[in-house]
Amino acid sequence: MNRRKFLKVSSLSLGGLAVAGIGVDMSGITAKKNYYLQGNYAPVKNLISEVGLKVTGQIPKDLSGLFVRNGPNPMSSVNEKKHHWFLGEGMLHGIRLDSGNALWYKNKLVDGNDSNANTSVISHSGKIYAIVEAGGYPVEIDQDLNSLNTKPFYGDKNAGFTAHPKLDPDTNELHAMCYDYANNFDTVDYVVIDQNGSHKKTQSIPFESRSMLHECAITKNYMLVFDLSVVFDLYKLGRGYFPFSWDDNHQSRIGLLSRNGDSDAVQWFDIDRTYFFHTFNAHEDSNGNVIVTAAAYDRLFDTDWNGPFTESPPQLTKWELNPKSGQAMSTKLDDRAVEFPRINPSLVGKSNQYAYALASSNTIEPDFKEIVKYDFKNDTSEVYEYGFGKFGAEPVFVAAEGAKSEDEGYLLSLVYNQETDNSDLIILNAKEPKSGPLATVHLPQRVPFGFHGEWVNI
Ligand SMILES: [Fe+2]
Repeated sequence: MNRRKFLKVSSLSLGGLAVAGIGVDMSGITAKKNYYLQGNYAPVKNLISEVGLKVTGQIPKDLSGLFVRNGPNPMSSVNEKKHHWFLGEGMLHGIRLDSGNALWYKNKLVDGNDSNANTSVISHSGKIYAIVEAGGYPVEIDQDLNSLNTKPFYGDKNAGFTAHPKLDPDTNELHAMCYDYANNFDTVDYVVIDQNGSHKKTQSIPFESRSMLHECAITKNYMLVFDLSVVFDLYKLGRGYFPFSWDDNHQSRIGLLSRNGDSDAVQWFDIDRTYFFHTFNAHEDSNGNVIVTAAAYDRLFDTDWNGPFTESPPQLTKWELNPKSGQAMSTKLDDRAVEFPRINPSLVGKSNQYAYALASSNTIEPDFKEIVKYDFKNDTSEVYEYGFGKFGAEPVFVAAEGAKSEDEGYLLSLVYNQETDNSDLIILNAKEPKSGPLATVHLPQRVPFGFHGEWVNI
C-alpha cells in the first residue's frame, strides 16, 4: 500500500473527517502490543548476500531459476500503536537455484521509480517487476534484485497498477483491476497489458464505494470485480492509521465485466458481507455459471487496525454466479483458516482440480503451521505440517519440467524456525506435500512474514 499517496487525500476533506468520526468504534485503539511487529513479523534491517547455501536433501535438477519474495519491511522506527502490517519499504528476498545447487541468497530494498512496491513480484515477457496497488508504480527488477530506473507497462508514462494481475495462460496477457483513490475517487480501471509487456487497454468503471480492491479474477469471458465490505476511511487516514475499515453498511458484491469489449456494463451480484484478499481461482462451468473461490473473512479491519488476523479467520468459500438469473449462491468449504492460495498457473481462469494454501487449524490468531493441498474433484485435502516451532509462508507452485499432470511439480515455501531465529526455503513434491521436503535450503537470516513470492524462470 502506498501510504504516501493516501496521505495526499487527507488534505482534501479535513472538514469531513470530524463528521466521519461520529459513532466510530474506538476499540481498535488499545494499549496492547502490535501483533504485526512481534516475532517474525518484525522487520529485518540487514541487507546481506551469501553464496553457496547449505542444503539438506536434494534440490530437483529441473528447478533452476530465481525465487523472489516481496513484503513490507519498515527500515526506520514506526509508531507501534498505529503501524499496519501492509506498510513499509518493499524488501525482496531472493534465492537462486541452479542444477541442484542453491547458489545464493540476498535481500534488497525496492527503491526504483519513486515507488513503494512492497506487495508482490511477477515475471512477464522476460522481465521481473515488484508491484503494489493503490496508485504505486510498478518497479522493474533485475536478476540480482536491483531496482531499475524504467517505467513499466505504460510507455513513457508512469501509472499505478495492482498487486494481483492475472496472467491469461492462453494469450499471455496480464489482466488487472487498478485503483488510486488519491487521484480517482469515483472510478477504478480494468487494465490489460499485452504479451510483450505493453499497455493494451484501460477501461474505467464507476466505483463509488471506494472499497479495497486487492484482487481480481478472470474466466474465459469475464473479468471479475470485487466490491467488498472494506472501504476507504478518511477518519483513519486523518489520524495516521491505515485508511481502510470494515463497513457493515456496504453491501458486498461481485461484478462480471465482459473481457471481449462487447459491453461496458458490469453485472453485479449481491453476496453476504465479506472481504477477501485472495481468490483461489475462477472459471465458467458447463452451464455458463461463474464459479469463484476465495479465502474469505467475515470481518476485518474493524477492531484490529493493524492487520487482518485477529478478528475472523479467512476460510475457503465458493460463490456460484448465475448470469441468467442474476442470483449468487455461497458455500463455505472448510473450517480451517487458509491464506495465500496458489494453483498451477496454467489453469488461471479455468477449472482446476488442485489448490495449495497456507493453513492453520487454530482459527483465532492463525499461526499458519501447515500447508493444505485441496483436491476439489474428489473433495479431499491433505496437510503438511512444518513442525514444532516452525511457521510457514505462501506455497508457490512450480510445474516440473515436461509435467503431464496438474500437480506434477513443486511447492516452494519459506519457513521461519523459532528455535534458530532463521528461515529456510523448503521444496515439497506437490503431488504429495505431506511426505515432507525434498530439499531444505538454509538461509543466513530470517525472512519476516510478508506477502507474495514468485518463481522466475529466467
Ligand atoms: Fe495479496
